Amino acid sequence: MPASIATSRPSAPAPPTAAQLHHAGRNLPRYTSYPTALAFQPAEGAETPRPWFAQTRPREVISAYVHVPFCRRLCWYCGCHTTVAHTYDRIDAFQQILDREIDLVAEALGDHAGAAHLHFGGGSPNALSPEHFLRLVGRLADRLRLRPDAEVAVELDPALLSAAFIDALGEGGVTRASLGVQTFDPPVQAKVNRIQPFERVAEAVERLRARGVEAINFDLMYGLPSQTPASVAATVDLALRLRPDRIAVFGYAHVPWMKKHQVMIKDADLADVAGRWAQADAADQALTDGGYVRIGLDHYARPGDPLARAAAEGRVRRNFQGYTDDPAPVLVPVGPSSIGQFREGFVQNAVATDDWSRAVREGRLPLARKLPLTPADRLRAAVIERLMCDLSADVEAICIAHGFAPETLDASLESLAEAERDGLCRRQGRRVEIPENARRLMRAVAAGFDERLPAGQNRHAKAV
Ligand SMILES: C[S@@+](CC[C@H](N)C(=O)[O-])C[C@H]1O[C@@H](n2cnc3c(N)ncnc32)[C@H](O)[C@@H]1O
Ligand code: SF4
Repeated sequence: MPASIATSRPSAPAPPTAAQLHHAGRNLPRYTSYPTALAFQPAEGAETPRPWFAQTRPREVISAYVHVPFCRRLCWYCGCHTTVAHTYDRIDAFQQILDREIDLVAEALGDHAGAAHLHFGGGSPNALSPEHFLRLVGRLADRLRLRPDAEVAVELDPALLSAAFIDALGEGGVTRASLGVQTFDPPVQAKVNRIQPFERVAEAVERLRARGVEAINFDLMYGLPSQTPASVAATVDLALRLRPDRIAVFGYAHVPWMKKHQVMIKDADLADVAGRWAQADAADQALTDGGYVRIGLDHYARPGDPLARAAAEGRVRRNFQGYTDDPAPVLVPVGPSSIGQFREGFVQNAVATDDWSRAVREGRLPLARKLPLTPADRLRAAVIERLMCDLSADVEAICIAHGFAPETLDASLESLAEAERDGLCRRQGRRVEIPENARRLMRAVAAGFDERLPAGQNRHAKAV
């Protein structure tokens, strides 16, 4: 790690109580959607989701998520849908199919007011060549009628980010770059197969800003092998030197039964729940001491940032990319495994690149799974979203706004008795508040409104 900088803190947070640690160790969804993706069903059958694409409204903007499922290295902790492409042939073939999928999607959509938000994720969108990336943005801009004021955000692996790719980001009108930093601690980097010096990230940030990509996000992680509170705090301190606009701090989700390569990470190198809590505390303290504002479960932003302003005004939304101020009601999925959202429900494209590619070559939208939403799902989703974004929900007002009787969710409110006893929330009538010192445990409160939890509970990672 480069020359260390001061990590002494003005005030240490109170240690967690036994009850808090109990809830931190529970396996709970992250509620990037409700119902969660575990509830999705096969897309074929009585209600195919294809007509949902046609239901966009002339005066409403849309958003799109484009998934690039390739990387040039495999980080042992990775939980994303990606594969390592050893030669460019596979990526070349992929981007040609992607072009055809964009045409299919554009044909399927009804009238709309243009795309206000494009998000490229993965994998690593910078596994594409700069030329192919530029062509892809151009095609999306044309077919989805990208608005001049649109946000175009791209997730990037800094270790493989070339100067030419950064130039392409500038030329393509990208407004936000999200860099996977994770940790600056070399021994931890070595344990997760992700060597990435601080200087490399610093150069990338400087060049991005010079090319007009002004908004910079960092992803950091805690709970990685051999990480400690001190190493997490030192990483945050280094990250802050580069003045990112937003920082997400993710707890490592160790799910080797789902992601086989995670067996490369030895259980003995992983902190227990109390250790993970201390690491999350260390990151939180370094970030708040550095002037960043907390947003939702795991995001932080500089006070003037649009997400921080949205948080202050109760306009933050929860979506598959984390937290956003994007109000678009429709998220169009593009690329393998991509999840989309329509008024009628959620859809997911085929996860395996071969299945996705076959469908597109046959001229079909590559939809593999769907979840039509019931009015009750929408009601519960609204309560869970407010809890996950605002740390409070006026359950009665939300019931009435959704056309339900005020007492509709009383059984869920009653189910919060244990969480309330343990200090995770307070109830006043039908209003639920999560105190600041239970922010990290908001998933345990949201779970009280999750009708579908018992079936899938053990398939989620730990809450902290
Ligand atoms: C698609 S990756 C980011 C872009 C790029 N591929 C990179 O790694 O730099 C999205 C983010 O998910 C987070 N992530 C990946 N695997 C995770 C896991 N098992 N648990 C928690 N967070 C994870 C990392 O912080 C990562 O930056
Ligand atoms: S963390 Fe990013 S770079 Fe590493 S394997 Fe996953 S998607 Fe690829």
